[in-house]
Amino acid sequence: MIKVLFVCLGNICRSPMAEYVFKDMVKKEGLENQFSIASAATSYEEVGNDMHYGTKDKLDEMGIPYTKHKARRIEKQDYQKYDYIIGMEESNIRNILRIVGDDEGKKVYRLLDFSKNPRDIADPWYTGNFTVTYHDIVEGCTNFLNYLKSHCL
Ligand code: 4NP
Repeated sequence: MIKVLFVCLGNICRSPMAEYVFKDMVKKEGLENQFSIASAATSYEEVGNDMHYGTKDKLDEMGIPYTKHKARRIEKQDYQKYDYIIGMEESNIRNILRIVGDDEGKKVYRLLDFSKNPRDIADPWYTGNFTVTYHDIVEGCTNFLNYLKSHCL
């Protein structure tokens, strides 16, 4: 079982989008039994809240299913619970490390570091552009799954 935690600042836009995009991707490949996939925030800002309507609208438009979401903040113990802790941008990585401590197990990555063009994923909470974020997340999740297929599956 590969346990993956996607992380962003608020856990209402990018990380839940990545959670549901990646769940859909592994299901379509018949790999869902080999994964546990979740998401979390680095801040307390949106704890308890549902996904942003822009994220839900984009998932609906792309036919990607999702369940009721409740934002939560990452906890120190999550470092032991997950194999991969995947942030959306460099500031997420810094905040994740501040919360979990040293990355002794080399579990913390930025999603688009798995792509040929490593970069941050812009926050649609500020940009309002959920389409660009969606395409970046699909690119990152596709490359991440390919990495896992060649290294662990
Ligand atoms: P996310 O976007 O990190 O992609 O979920 C944000 C959502 C809420 C806030 C910041 C970013 N906020 O400050 O409330």
